[in-house]
Amino acid sequence: MLDVSMDKKLEVNKIYHMDCIKFLCNIEDNIVDLAVIDPPYNMRKAVWDTFKDEKEFFDFTFEWIDALIPKLKNNGSLYIFNTPYNSAYILAYLKEKGMIFQNWITWDKRDGMGAARQRYSNGQETILFFTKGDNHTFNYDDIRLPYDSTERIEHAKKKGIIKNGKRWFPNPKGKLCGEVWHISSARHKNKVNGKLKKMNHITPKPMDLMERIIQASSNRGDIVLDCFVGSGTTAVVAARLGRNFLCCDNNDNYVRLAQDALTKIN
Ligand SMILES: C[S@@+](CC[C@H](N)C(=O)[O-])C[C@H]1O[C@@H](n2cnc3c(N)ncnc32)[C@H](O)[C@@H]1O
Repeated sequence: MLDVSMDKKLEVNKIYHMDCIKFLCNIEDNIVDLAVIDPPYNMRKAVWDTFKDEKEFFDFTFEWIDALIPKLKNNGSLYIFNTPYNSAYILAYLKEKGMIFQNWITWDKRDGMGAARQRYSNGQETILFFTKGDNHTFNYDDIRLPYDSTERIEHAKKKGIIKNGKRWFPNPKGKLCGEVWHISSARHKNKVNGKLKKMNHITPKPMDLMERIIQASSNRGDIVLDCFVGSGTTAVVAARLGRNFLCCDNNDNYVRLAQDALTKIN
């Protein structure tokens, strides 16, 4: 059951120490431009990621989704991280709730893979991208990537390439961003001489990945929401990019960590 008894007075640009449901119920409806949600995955990586069974996990997941959707503006966007398996169920639930599917983003984590012997080893996570309506922000020019084939592109810059009967010239800002993202995990980036270094949070998201999402799906001054902020990645990137943030976590150590990370932004 949702707790709707409080009086919707949360301020932006603070990290709240709160349970996600209570936090969401204290936010006004229709004010969030972008929600970037990195929730528990039910992988038993920590107490907060451990559920009795799949039913308990999906009941929890669908409860926070129900609380979150009304907070999005009609042109708001929603990104949800999870395993591919869980994402299949989350996708079906979001469709049922009337959200509009945009992309199934495959994040190739460029990290060590699991040592599976009876199936393929996994090294990816899924990021579902949904919107509430169809006039959402999408700054595709801000997230262009370098072209792969430098030789061909050098040639095309001078003379163009004939495509569908038209002369095509490469965009000086690079190619459009696809839906398979090759970005090293924070864990991998943090290794020293190939050795893992202890991190303050067990599952931080990489800053560059978060930057891509926030740049693409919000503008300066917009409100970015994350109700599982952990070490504060969403808040730090949002602040650096001139966006407002509304964030919480129910673990006070992580809240302190996130608050501390915010004080170090230059
Ligand atoms: C996957 S981690 C998020 C990591 C974060 N994206 C980062 O870059 O550090 C999920 C977070 O959800 C928090 N959490 C778990 N259950 C919660 C709940 N019911 N309410 C609020 N936070 C919760 C955990 O403490 C954990 O920090």
